[in-house]
Amino acid sequence: MKLNGAMNNLKLLPVILVLLSCGNEGVKTDEKPVDIQELAKNQPEVHGTELKEGDITLSNPLDTTMVHAGKAIYELKCQSCHRLTEDKLVGPGWKNVTKRRQPLWIMNMITNVEMMLESDPEAQKLLELCLVRMPNQNLNREEARQVIEFMRNNDGEK
Ligand code: HEC
Repeated sequence: MKLNGAMNNLKLLPVILVLLSCGNEGVKTDEKPVDIQELAKNQPEVHGTELKEGDITLSNPLDTTMVHAGKAIYELKCQSCHRLTEDKLVGPGWKNVTKRRQPLWIMNMITNVEMMLESDPEAQKLLELCLVRMPNQNLNREEARQVIEFMRNNDGEK
């Protein structure tokens, strides 16, 4: 009997996690709840190399080819947890992310998320807020750079 009770509690865990994620503000009721465990499972944890100052150059004006490539990556690998507005889903909304973060920080968050969650205070604050570790999406540098271009576009840069 006792064991059964514990099992039932365990089954509720994903539901509770979804409810807790980032305050739930951005989630509309007519949407299917995100199953975080499903999204986060089977992701190999690979540490990349930390990117340093000088590993990224920003183009001005925006490189439209990169914006499009970044959008495709977003739709495939990020959209399930990040909105393009300020609203949080599983992770923070992306609106103005390029204004509150340095591009290098974002690049490391994308390609080295485990390292960032272990050692970067800002990333750790986000984890406290969202209660879910962002899984490594296995993007290479070039892909991460394309996502940055898409984020800049989303933040109104030309
Ligand atoms: C399974 C959900 C999930 C997926 C998929 C996901 N993220 Fe995240 N992301 C998070 C969470 C949660 C955080 C907050 C940090 C934490 O708790 O680990 C975050 C934080 C971030 C941040 C920092 C945001 C800020 O406000 O500073 C960036 C940048 C980011 N993710 C980029 C990406 C990119 C790029 C992709 C797709 C290639 C992606 N994420 C896919 C869950 C996800």
